[in-house]
Formats: sequence, C-alpha cells, structure tokens
Amino acid sequence: MHESDDEMTRVLAIDTSTDMLACAVGSVRAGKPMGDGAVDVLAAGDHRCRRRANVELVGTVDTTLTQAGVGVDDLDAILVGRGPGSFTGVRIGISTAKGLATGANLPLYGVSTLDATAWTAWHAGVRGRLGVAADAMRGEVYPALYELTDAGVARLFERERVLKAADAVATWRALPFSSDLLLTGDGLVRYGALFEEAGLMGRALDQDLWWPNGQGLISAFAAAGGAAAAGIGNGDPAAVLPVYTRLSDAEENERRRLGLAGDAHVAPTGVADELAGRHLQLRPLAASDAEAAAALDAVCFNEGAHTSWTPEMFLSELSEGLTAPRAWWVAHDDGELIGIAGGMVIDADVQILDVAVSPEHRRRGIARKLLAHVSYDAQMLGCTSASLEVEAGNDAAIGLYEDLGFSRAGCRRDYYGPGSDAVVMTAPLPLSLPVDASSPEPTAAAARDWPAPAQAKSERAEIERRRLVLAIESSCDETAVAIIDADGALLANQVSTQIDFHARFGGVVPEIASRKHVEVIVGVVEAALEEASEALGLTGGTLSPRELAAVGVTQGPGLVGALVVGVAFAKGLAFAAGRPLVCVNHLEGHLFANLLADPDLKPPFIFTLVSGGHTMLVHVRAWGDYRVLGETLDDAVGEAFDKVAKALGSGYPGGPIISRLAEEGNPEAIDFPRAMMHSHDYRFSLSGLKTAVVTYIEQETAAGRTIHLPDLAASFEAAVFDVQFKKAWDALRETGAESYCLGGGVAANPHLRELLTRKLGRRGVHVVLPPQGACTDNAAMIAEVARRKFDRGEVSGFDIDADPNMTL
Ligand code: KG4
Ligand code: ZN
Repeated sequence: MHESDDEMTRVLAIDTSTDMLACAVGSVRAGKPMGDGAVDVLAAGDHRCRRRANVELVGTVDTTLTQAGVGVDDLDAILVGRGPGSFTGVRIGISTAKGLATGANLPLYGVSTLDATAWTAWHAGVRGRLGVAADAMRGEVYPALYELTDAGVARLFERERVLKAADAVATWRALPFSSDLLLTGDGLVRYGALFEEAGLMGRALDQDLWWPNGQGLISAFAAAGGAAAAGIGNGDPAAVLPVYTRLSDAEENERRRLGLAGDAHVAPTGVADELAGRHLQLRPLAASDAEAAAALDAVCFNEGAHTSWTPEMFLSELSEGLTAPRAWWVAHDDGELIGIAGGMVIDADVQILDVAVSPEHRRRGIARKLLAHVSYDAQMLGCTSASLEVEAGNDAAIGLYEDLGFSRAGCRRDYYGPGSDAVVMTAPLPLSLPVDASSPEPTAAAARDWPAPAQAKSERAEIERRRLVLAIESSCDETAVAIIDADGALLANQVSTQIDFHARFGGVVPEIASRKHVEVIVGVVEAALEEASEALGLTGGTLSPRELAAVGVTQGPGLVGALVVGVAFAKGLAFAAGRPLVCVNHLEGHLFANLLADPDLKPPFIFTLVSGGHTMLVHVRAWGDYRVLGETLDDAVGEAFDKVAKALGSGYPGGPIISRLAEEGNPEAIDFPRAMMHSHDYRFSLSGLKTAVVTYIEQETAAGRTIHLPDLAASFEAAVFDVQFKKAWDALRETGAESYCLGGGVAANPHLRELLTRKLGRRGVHVVLPPQGACTDNAAMIAEVARRKFDRGEVSGFDIDADPNMTL
C-alpha cells in the first residue's frame, strides 16, 4: 500500500492550562516515525499570556489559521490540552475547543499537557530522563517523569497526580538517576529554589522550554497513535474532560469528615426532623447509613442469587486505608434510604460494586442519578471507563445499563453460583446521562402556528429566514441553552440543573459548578439543536450550528468560573460556525423574561429583581435605560429563603421548599420584622429577618415547643413580601410609571405573584409576570435579550471575557 493524502490529519491544537497560550496548526502523518516527518507544523501562535487566555485564545486561533492558510473547513480534528494545570485555564481551553469542535462539526481529542511539555523539550533536541514539574499552585506540583530518546518520548509514570513541591523534590532526589535528571515545567518558576537546594536545578532546561507549545501537543497526539488509537477517545467533544487530580475542596473536606468521624451525619438542626429529606436528595454514603443500606440491598436481591451486602461490608467501604479509592452514594426521600450505588477505582476504571433501588421507587431515574454521582467522582479521580457485572437473566438492569452507554464485554460463568452467569458490561466515561429538559411553558410566541414542514431544500431556506439565535446560560448552577427565532418564537429550551450536586453542601459550590458546566455543555447544546429541529419539523437532518444566525451568551454577573465555561464555549462555537457573538447581561435576562409572557410590555415601568444573588428595584425608562432605585444592603431575597431553609435543615434551594410549606400556613402567626419598611428609600435589608427566624427556631426548641413549620414559612414570606410590595408601590407613585414587572428566581413564588397582581392590580397598575418556568435561571430569557441585541446589530468581538460583576 502506498502513501496517500488520506493518511494525513490536519489539526488545530490549543492549550491554556498554563501561562502559555499554546496554539498551532499542523498535520500528522499516520505510520511515520516521530523523528521523520510524522508531525509538520504549518503555523504556531504560542505566546505567554497570563490570565488572559479567554481574551486572546480565539483571536490567536484565527491568526494562526490564517498564517497556515487553512480554514476551519480544512481541518480534520481539534486537539486540546486537558491539563493538569490551572483549573480555570484548563476549562477555558477545553470549553473553547468543545465550542470549536461543535461549531465546525469536527472530532475533538484531549492530550495531556504534561506529555505536551515533554514533547516540546524533545523537539528542542533534549534527550535523556526528564522530570516535568508543572505548577499546581498552593505549594504543589504535578510531577511527571519521561524518557526522551531519538525515537520519541516515553512516560515513566501511569497517572497524573499532585504532590507538595517539597515531596516531589525529595522523591526525585532519591531516584537512582537523580544526578542525570533533566528538569522542566512551569513549577520551576515558583518552586525553583526548592529544586536548587536539592541540587537538581543544575540540569534544568532553558526557561523557554518550561511550558508546552502547540507542536508538543500535536506530537503527543501523533505519538499516541493519532485519532485511530484506542485510548485517545472517540472524538466526541462531550467526552473530553479536564484532568483533575483532586476533588473540589468542599468534597475533599466532606470525605475527610466522613472518614474521620464515622457517625457525623446530618448536623442536628434543632427542630424535629419533620422536613429534612422531604424530597429526593442524594449524598455520599455515611457510616450511619450502613444498616439501612444493607436492609435495602437485602430487599433488592432477595430473589436473585446475588449475595447481598452486610452492614459491616458497607462500613468497611468507608474506612480509610483502602488500597483503591471508593465512591458511594445514597438517595433518600422522607428520611428513608431508597437507593445506593458505589464503585471502586482501579487504574482508570471504576468498577461498580453495587446498585440497588427500593422496588417502590424504581423508574424515577434514581439508579441513573446515583451512577452519575459515582462516575463523576471516578472521573475526577482520573477514570475513563466504568465496568460492572449483572446477572445474565436480569434484562431490566441490562437495559438500564445499555441506556447509560454500557455494552456487553464478556461473561463470567457461574459467577453468582452454579447456573447463574454474570454479564460483564463496560462503558466509557462520562456516562450518557439524559439532559433534564425543562418543560418550557407555552409562551405567546411559541404558540404561534408553524407552516407545514416543507421539502428539505426550502426547509433550509426557511431556517435562514427565521434568523435563529442560540443562547447559552452558565452563570450559576444551571447549564441552559435555548433557541429563538427573529420573531421571538422559542424553539428550544433546555436546562440541565446541578442542584443534586450542591444540595448536600447547603448552597452552590463554585468549583463543582464549573466542573459540571464543562461536563454537560455539549450535551445540552446538542439537545437544544435537536429540540429545535423537531419544533421546526425538519425532515432533512438536525439543525446545524452553521445554520444559526448568531450565538448569544451570558457574560455576567455570576460565578466567574461558571461564566467562563459558557463564554469560552460560545466564542468557539460562534467562531467555528462563522457567526456573530452576542453578549448578554444576566440581570437583563431576568427582566426580559417578562417579554416571554407579554411581548407588548413597553417602558416606562418599575421592575423588581429578586434572585439568589440580587434584590433591586429598577425604574426602566426605556429598553437599555435603567435607573436602579435601590438594592439590598446585605442578603438577597433568594439567599434569605435559602438560609432559612438551611436553618430548618430542609435542603437546598430553599425557595421552593419554603413556598410549598407556606401554602398551609398562617402568614399572621408570627410577627417577624419588616426591615426598612419605612426607611423612605428603596433600599432593602434581609439579614435581620433571617436572624429573627433563626432566633425564633432556637427559642422555641429550647422551650420544648414544636415549631409549626407552615406558619413559620408563611410568616417569613409575609415579612419579605410586604416590604417588596410597599417599595414597589412607592416607586410606581413617585415615578408615575403605570406598569410593573418582576424577575429572578423568587418571582416563581406563587404567593408573591398573587400578592403583587392583586394589590397593584387593584390600584390600577398593569402587572406583568414572567412565565413561572422562566423565573429561575434559564436560557430562554437570555435568548430573548440576544435576539433583540442582534437585531440592533449589537454584536461583540471574540476578545470579550466573562464579567462576574456586571450590573444593570
Ligand atoms: O434567578 P435564580 O435562579 O439565580 C440567580 O440568578 O441568583 O434565583 C435562585 C433563587 C434561589 O435563592 C431560590 O431559593 C429562589 O431563587 N427561589 C425561590 C422560589 N424558587 C426559587 N424563592 C422563593 N420562592 C420560590 N418558589
Ligand atoms: Zn439568575
């Protein structure tokens, strides 16, 4: 067989895991030795860029492609450095790469940043044993040893890990070949002195080589066998994830707590446990669950041959000193343990040890959710696959696992006893979990009639005519994507919420939020494109990103690490699809949610924003002309709901829990303070009320009285809402505005909606409320802002960054 052009793969490689913005366009020839033309770099844009990766990356990609004379369409694949490195840096690179790959419909492959650094040295002619000490911040490095010969670079380690810089120094100094060990890696910038003291710096490479470059990335990919090689992944942009060497701090602390204090369970809340766990919640297995877990396991497996787990077995899974890391999760509802799943990490595989869901609670997706948590932990610990055994005759279980992406990999004869075989199943991580599509409320616009589906060609023309805008929201704990047309008809509205992952910490953990966004963003975008295709009745294939008119994204305010994922992805998507980018202010999104209910709403009007992060009263004089009349001095309204629910031990988020409770309560039962009610301005304060509620709970508990939770919830709501009404009415009178609208998560509260509609309506005010489903964070509202901005030609450059502190 002789060489043809088909064996050449043209790639774009990027990596922002370190202060080096690595970027190159090159080609990889299959089957060539590394020293002999296997990799050809056509253009490189590598440069140092501290903390500005999100600003510069897409621009650098653009100029590098231009220099190489290569268009996005001429590429065969995208490569991205997966770290380890700076968490935010890694996520910016990966999110942008996911966007690029999705926008251009190209495969995406992940490469180890450490390998790329070693290959960068190799291309500079370095040979011998090389230690890469990459900066892991907080006094730590990612240490990696390589052997560099003329044939290429070989790893002398199996998995990436993190070590205290001093420990890495000690380990390397103890190596038999320490006196010959060459050194590189950006960890030398910060910890060079430690290596120097140990006498290791003498053989450090030239400082220019301490970072990975684009050529190194492409070579690491080529050496691993390129796209054809197993282990590189299947090119699915959803499957490429950062290499993390530790869990988030919140999870690490929790694990430590669970491991040390065996019985530390749910902290005593001071109230009867009436409410705790009233709804389905997931949390890691604790020692106090062992009995219930064993009982559940016995119920689930009593008929089969599978031997069920004893309490001692569960306990031993929790103990420290196990050779392989474990991840165990339980689901509970109404105080009852209804599901459990766990696994053990061996090399890069998580072996699922047990999955059990109580028979009355099956078909609610609980097993799926539990496995999601177990596999998420495993992925964070470096796993790339999951495996399990299931009884050969158990078709229901086999079906569930198949849905999750498991396939049959083998069979163990008589595994569960004579005549009872086990089927061995494996799946690549992440598991294919469904996106929880929100049920978008039919809006006035969406209810409009569509023309009957046309033939494929005119279908495509129709898509162009509608000027579709896809918008992405990732400012907090929901990853959401919506697609809207130029007339405001909503064609897709997908929300993937992470609430389960945060609930056990009583609030959103920023690091977990960022990680989850990276994990699900491609899936949510794909789900939205499919939903829109269905809404359009397309017969000629799914809507492609290139058929969009523009891409919108939430720029801020919000959690910076969460925002950057959406912004970087949106930029990659828009650039690769050749479409303009439109940046949206999240707060404006909450305001524009009102237009989904009433497209004719017109300024001037008064707007109250009540969300988890904001409480403000705004005079909207014209679209885009906002005068903030007043804000909260301390907690936001949503935050107060969350804190009160937490004090009651009733879970997160607090808003829906409190409002459900309040339904049967008497709002006049307890006289909580109405702070700033008569302050004659538009400022709010909620921390005093929160303290009053907590004090009330403590006093009643100390006095041995049972707290009537519905009365407490209703009275708390009344105290908050009375002030909201009073100030809104004052603002309406003072400004002479005749219309009023509401926005933010708390706008979903039925009592607030009812109170404002009734009281303001009675006073002749035209009250508009967002559809109930569009109050908490969603992308429909972001899409509504984006389509109007796009219509006015307000598009952004690819050098914009997330702005966590944006205001109205
Ligand atoms: O707008 P949002 O989804 O996120 C931010 O931008 O902050 O608001 C979330 C907040 C949470 O604090 C949640 O407890 C609150 O909205 N919330 C509610 C209700 N549903 C959500 N508060 C009161 N009643 C509700 N039904
Ligand atoms: Zn919000």
